[in-house]
Amino acid sequence: MARNKIALIGSGMIGGTLAHLAAQKELGDVVLFDIAEGIPEGKALDIAQSAPVDGYDSRLKGTQDYADIAGADVCIVTAGVPRKPGMSRDDLVEINLKVMKAVGEGIAKHAPNAFVICITNPLDAMVWALQKFSGLPTNKVVGMAGILDSSRFRMFLAEEFNVSVESVTAFVLGGHGDTMVPSTRYSTIAGVPLPDMVKLGWSTQEKIDAIVDRTRKGGGEIVGLLKTGSAYYAPAASAIQMAESYLRDKKVVVPCAAYLDGEFGVKDRYVGVPIVIGSEGAERILEIEFTDEEKQMFDNSVAAVEDLVEACQKIDPSLK
Ligand code: APR
Repeated sequence: MARNKIALIGSGMIGGTLAHLAAQKELGDVVLFDIAEGIPEGKALDIAQSAPVDGYDSRLKGTQDYADIAGADVCIVTAGVPRKPGMSRDDLVEINLKVMKAVGEGIAKHAPNAFVICITNPLDAMVWALQKFSGLPTNKVVGMAGILDSSRFRMFLAEEFNVSVESVTAFVLGGHGDTMVPSTRYSTIAGVPLPDMVKLGWSTQEKIDAIVDRTRKGGGEIVGLLKTGSAYYAPAASAIQMAESYLRDKKVVVPCAAYLDGEFGVKDRYVGVPIVIGSEGAERILEIEFTDEEKQMFDNSVAAVEDLVEACQKIDPSLK
């Protein structure tokens, strides 16, 4: 059986980490693409030289030529610029939209059958633009954000309850920005919803509220610490989970930026919602019910995504 091929468009901090994880997990052979000469080649060689020590057989190649991504099964897109302290994800629109056009055209030409995972920020608008520029089916283009935001939420909750991260499930919905909606009702400690855990006296509402707030600002906290860029270990791990579920048809149910065609009352936009990822890509949307308060927060988040999409349409009127 031929090996899978994973193309990483963008070989910066997240791209390099993705390459390392994909190779270690033997998800397939890895192509690192970047416009910066030498960076993808250097990272590919460095990671390949760790393979004999770690014992994996994935092959790695660095390139500046889109032709090398030909036939990729999965493309993970991190091309663009990350945030610096004081910047919001939204400040990146203008530069990264141009990058999405080039990347969309490259993927359409060389890897039109790939499952495409976008990570570039501002995520919900960039994945929307990437789908339009590439013309790939909407079920084959998704955005990585919800798994990362949920993983941050889970990590904070595990610390608060002093339990294994594996015993914590969490859902963060909506756009990947400050308006994201960490759902306490759908987040659990071993199946017990957070409000019930508060009733049982394991935590307080104030502490949960503070964790929700920290989750919303989780990316900014790391930008503030690193000062030269944004998070990369957890974003890469999250995208690899999506790639693995697609390649192995695992059908994990995870929050991702998915194309909505009327679900949750939203049309022709990408927003973070729970989906099933299998060999068909985004196979099914889990249209959970919201309380009035949750619905209001979700709509508020969708409005923020709408503003970003409108900003994209102003910059590039070909985007309808
Ligand atoms: N085509 C391909 N690669 C590009 C292009 C392009 N048109 N423009 C920029 N790049 C490359 C850069 O050369 C750089 O190597 O994208 C890479 C981005 O890497 P980093 O600057 O290290 O950024 P990273 O931390 O990996 O984040 C990438 O993901 O989470 C988001 O906000 C983040 O938008 C940012 C993206």
